[in-house]
Amino acid sequence: MKLWSGRFEGEIDKAADSFNSSLAFDKRLYKCDIEGSKAHCAMLGKCGIIPRGDADLIIKTLDEILADIDGGRLEIADAEDIHSFVENELVSRIGPAGKKLHTGRSRNDQVALDTRLYLRGAADDILGLIKALVVRLTDISEANLDTVMPAFTHLQKAQPTTLAHHFMAYAEMFARDAERFAQARTRINVMPLGSGACTSTAYPIDRGMVARQLGFDEITANSMDAVSDRDFVIDFLSAAAIAMMHLSRFSEEIIIWSSDEYRYVELSDKFSTGSSIMPQKKNPDMNELLRGKTGRVYGDLMSMLTVMKGLPLAYDKDMQEDKECVFDAYDTLRACLNVFTALLGDMKINKDVLRRSTDGGFTSATECADYLVRRGVPFRDAHGVIGRLVIHCIKHGKTLQSLTLDEYRRFGDFDEDIFDAIKAENAIAQRKAPGGPSPDAMRAEIAAMRDKIKSML
Ligand code: ARG
Repeated sequence: MKLWSGRFEGEIDKAADSFNSSLAFDKRLYKCDIEGSKAHCAMLGKCGIIPRGDADLIIKTLDEILADIDGGRLEIADAEDIHSFVENELVSRIGPAGKKLHTGRSRNDQVALDTRLYLRGAADDILGLIKALVVRLTDISEANLDTVMPAFTHLQKAQPTTLAHHFMAYAEMFARDAERFAQARTRINVMPLGSGACTSTAYPIDRGMVARQLGFDEITANSMDAVSDRDFVIDFLSAAAIAMMHLSRFSEEIIIWSSDEYRYVELSDKFSTGSSIMPQKKNPDMNELLRGKTGRVYGDLMSMLTVMKGLPLAYDKDMQEDKECVFDAYDTLRACLNVFTALLGDMKINKDVLRRSTDGGFTSATECADYLVRRGVPFRDAHGVIGRLVIHCIKHGKTLQSLTLDEYRRFGDFDEDIFDAIKAENAIAQRKAPGGPSPDAMRAEIAAMRDKIKSML
């Protein structure tokens, strides 16, 4: 039975009915819908809008419906949407009393409420998963304060750094992602019920009571706004899209690092796949999928931005499109965070390869130039001298470490201590400024991150 059948004399077209229906996907909201209805009903009973006895019966029956769905005894089917399904089921079980549940309420404020309840749970879940990832990155970093590796710019070796420094860069990004989800949660956690279809309701309702029962911090301030905006959905999707961007970037690095040309890391067998034809292959499929799935989460965000951009106030059916975006982005991000955190814990870091790669790539050239600067050569001139020294190395198959002092001296005012100055460890140890890779600076960053983790949810 349609909730709105009174106004109609004819039946809806079959194809139109199925086109209009959101049940196939919004059935995921059943718990939120029932929870919201129970709070609404308790308020109606308390405020004397419907008889207490009816309210008690409705609440008891809603609990039974919930238990039946959870227990697999009641299949969610044959309704326009989840709100219609629950109400129809209620009425079929208790008759006239059930018909009073929708007093002072519209599906417009009801769906806004359900979506907010759902997203609040999703945000909490994602926050927990991001926290686990940040903890893992911080642990790996702490164990690799002295693991020397090249820092890159333009994917060309730049300067020596440590694996801790590189991984903590990502820990910072994911910590900001957690902040974004926490902020999104604050804006999600506002109670819209009581807004009715668009101009609230004339019944003497108590919105504060509903908010308290459902654990909301606040109630929405304007009924038109409450039923017609989905910016809180877009907040969630944009936080999800940014988190996916970070996961994708890190995945890209792991893909590069696990290639034979790099061999900086090796993924465990648990998180790799093989080829059906090439026996030698061990492929980083998880990371590639993570990178690929970023596209769909961006798509979810873009879909909702586009859905909303031309909608006149207040509710429009276009907004029904928000559900699949929310579910898809949530499921995708959740799966990606889970697999990524697990994969990192099992990834082998090839310290010796990282070390050789650092020494072999002229990453100490900046140190060489700074050495000359300390001896009075203007930086720009020192830069030119070391540039020529690098050409010499390339021509003769040498590294800055394997040059003799005589060769150095052909280019400038060098002494034996140049060999200490270009040691990666020394270059790193001198970068003590906050944010730099020296073990002391890293220990401070890690301690600050541990504090941040404590305050995450
Ligand atoms: N299924 C609808 C949605 O997701 C519920 C609200 C329906 N409201 C309406 N006025 N048709 O948006």
